[in-house]
Amino acid sequence: MAILDKHKILEKNATLLLIFSFLVVTIGGLVQITPLFYLENTIEEVEGVRPYTPLELTGRDIYVREGCYVCHSQMIRPMRDEVERYGHYSLAAESMYDHPFQWGSKRTGPDLARVGSRYSDEWHIDHLRDPQSLVPESIMPKYGFLLDRVIRPDHIVERLRTDRTVGVPYDEEMLQNAVADFRTQADPFGDAAGLQARYPGAQLRNFDRQPQLTEMDALIAYLQVLGTMVDFSTFEPDPNR
Ligand code: HEC
Repeated sequence: MAILDKHKILEKNATLLLIFSFLVVTIGGLVQITPLFYLENTIEEVEGVRPYTPLELTGRDIYVREGCYVCHSQMIRPMRDEVERYGHYSLAAESMYDHPFQWGSKRTGPDLARVGSRYSDEWHIDHLRDPQSLVPESIMPKYGFLLDRVIRPDHIVERLRTDRTVGVPYDEEMLQNAVADFRTQADPFGDAAGLQARYPGAQLRNFDRQPQLTEMDALIAYLQVLGTMVDFSTFEPDPNR
């Protein structure tokens, strides 16, 4: 009883109550936040997650430029309806090299976190050119102009370097080969083995089926890698988390 009587003092005095509430919230906050400053990384690393290839990264920039995120999220929540529709829920590690991340919350169209390898390149070309030809009720805009926009790797080394400054582990070899890798991925007559050693699992082919390297190649290379880096047939979550 005595302790409740003492609590009465606080409850009857607004100023004291404010001061003590502030103290309690401060201590609680510090307990939660301080440990984070001593952890180098709060993301559990997962096998298979690698930085984007130069071409995929270019495609990602086109995705951001075109505002695809306005209608598409890239995060599968761990709820049954989502997992049954889209596949394994998204892991933090899967977007650890995304700057900025594309999780989003607006789903005018479906989530794209695991769209990679779900459709053929031809399907993507047709769909981006004229979404209504495949899904008559679709309200997605047409992006056929990407087929006419030729791309060059003029700034790709700087682009990779920029991501490196925010923590993406592009090494010297990746920077030195960036220009060649950019072309090789869509025209696999170059150093394909080198590209695949630097970026395990990278898909090599002529994504847009045209001789020139276009924005369509880059965007499809990006779409086709989404959600495919982690092998979920062998993945097991860390039981300590
Ligand atoms: C105005 C909203 C809107 C924008 C902007 C938009 N989309 Fe869509 N997207 C949709 C809708 C709605 C659908 C579902 C119907 C369909 O398949 O066309 C869709 C479907 C898709 C699908 C098929 C997904 C699946 O699992 O079936 C892909 C891939 C896709 N969009 C990629 C893109 C890309 C890449 C961009 C940017 C270049 C983009 N979208 C921009 C609305 C949008």
